[in-house]
Amino acid sequence: MASILVLNGPNLNLLGTRQPEVYGTTTLADIDAACRAHGQTIGVDVTCVQTNFEGGLVEAIHAAKGTHAGLVINAGAYTHTSIAIMDAVASVELPAVEVHLSNIHAREDFRHTSYLARVCVGQIAGFGMHSYILGMDALKAHLA
Ligand code: DQA
Repeated sequence: MASILVLNGPNLNLLGTRQPEVYGTTTLADIDAACRAHGQTIGVDVTCVQTNFEGGLVEAIHAAKGTHAGLVINAGAYTHTSIAIMDAVASVELPAVEVHLSNIHAREDFRHTSYLARVCVGQIAGFGMHSYILGMDALKAHLA
């Protein structure tokens, strides 16, 4: 069975109470549970990791090589700033799908730029928790 990493970045541990008008009331534990359950449905092993640190994301991406077949990644604000995370994804040569709860293109201008998008198979944004489920399906289809 293929194994995938669902990787979450800064402030996503606060989901549920963080700006509910933007991100809803779903918690990260809810998202992780939904991803694991969906993994069982589509026949994919799911590991969920969250860190608030840029270097932690880089190290989790490095560790995915040889362990996971691909990544679903919400790098939070680092999406818009981090060349290091972009380079990490490019370096491990694992397919990655970028996901966001909110529609970053309908928000502030600084959220319209994604360094990560340059090295991802594609991007899914704006569907709340369902963005992760769609991202998993897209990654699975890409891996097939
Ligand atoms: C986010 C969008 C980012 O702009 C923001 O910094 C986040 C969450 C999202 O999932 O909508 O932390 O990645």
